[in-house]
Amino acid sequence: MKNSATAAIAGAAMAIPGVDALASGNSGPADKTPADGIAYRLKYNKDGKIKILQFTDTHYIEGDERSERALRNVIQMLDTEKPDFVIHTGDIVFGKPAEASARHILQPLVDRKIPFAVAMGNHDSDYDLTRTEMFKVLRSIPGNVNTIDDDGISGCSNDIITLSGKNGVDRIFYLFDSGNRDEIAGVKGWSYVKQDQIAWYKKHSRKFTEANGGKPVPALAFFHIPVPEYKEAIRDTSRVMMGNIGEEPGAPKFNSGLYLAMREMGDVQGIVTGHDHNSDYVMLWQKFFLIYGRFSGCDTVYNDLKPNGARVFEFSEGDEGFRTWVRLYGGKVEQDLYLYPEMKNLTSPRP
Ligand SMILES: [Fe+2]
Repeated sequence: MKNSATAAIAGAAMAIPGVDALASGNSGPADKTPADGIAYRLKYNKDGKIKILQFTDTHYIEGDERSERALRNVIQMLDTEKPDFVIHTGDIVFGKPAEASARHILQPLVDRKIPFAVAMGNHDSDYDLTRTEMFKVLRSIPGNVNTIDDDGISGCSNDIITLSGKNGVDRIFYLFDSGNRDEIAGVKGWSYVKQDQIAWYKKHSRKFTEANGGKPVPALAFFHIPVPEYKEAIRDTSRVMMGNIGEEPGAPKFNSGLYLAMREMGDVQGIVTGHDHNSDYVMLWQKFFLIYGRFSGCDTVYNDLKPNGARVFEFSEGDEGFRTWVRLYGGKVEQDLYLYPEMKNLTSPRP
């Protein structure tokens, strides 16, 4: 995350397009976290597959013409990939009015009746709404499946989404709120997933493992700010990677232990973040995947990785591995990879 001045706020807000109610079948946002902690249950399509598209760092500002590039990208990505589900890993907006900005950039999902979840970014509470207020707005958008964290843990967008096949839950997506800026006196840096969020993750991870006969359920974790291990990995010659390293990972100063917790629990295969607009790589390090989304935003903020686009994930029933690729605005595909836990090199063929 390069230091960049907040973009100038454009003048009068444009009208917010009307929103359609979603088709039945999407449960919509719950008033509180369900007792089992699962915010939303995904199922494979009739071909035994499911496609999840990740937007990140759209940095939309309502009424600012520089934002139009982000909106065009969101529309093209959805119409090209036709995902079953969308995860936005934050920095949805980059100015006020934050509510109108969020509603406008997410409206293409509403129009297409695509369910989605968000993992909030640092900038999403920088403007005229608090983090809680912004989360309430996001949850009110038709198709959003985030829940209120009634465990009382830090942050707003901590959620569990499951993917089930014939034999029950066979994949989990953990979403975390990685916060805004470090709140510890004397520390100037980015925030992180806190101890209570890690305890929440471990509690649910343990339950899923127990229900699965003691075998960890394969999982991916989505959040905005990368963990400090991203910094260590890029300097470790044992790592292998594909994609662009365009900047130093904008990780927090302190390591809160999230990566370690995931490795101890043994379920999470990889972390997927945003935050650093000039990086979009997949890195295999310590038999774990450190992944960036592809910058989906516009010229309200720094972005040297052009064109914009999105990262896509495809899961097949009964397969512990998964496919991921980057779709670029204009149609080109990069980093078409099949990733599986025991792979030694990213160019390894599918077993
Ligand atoms: Fe950003």
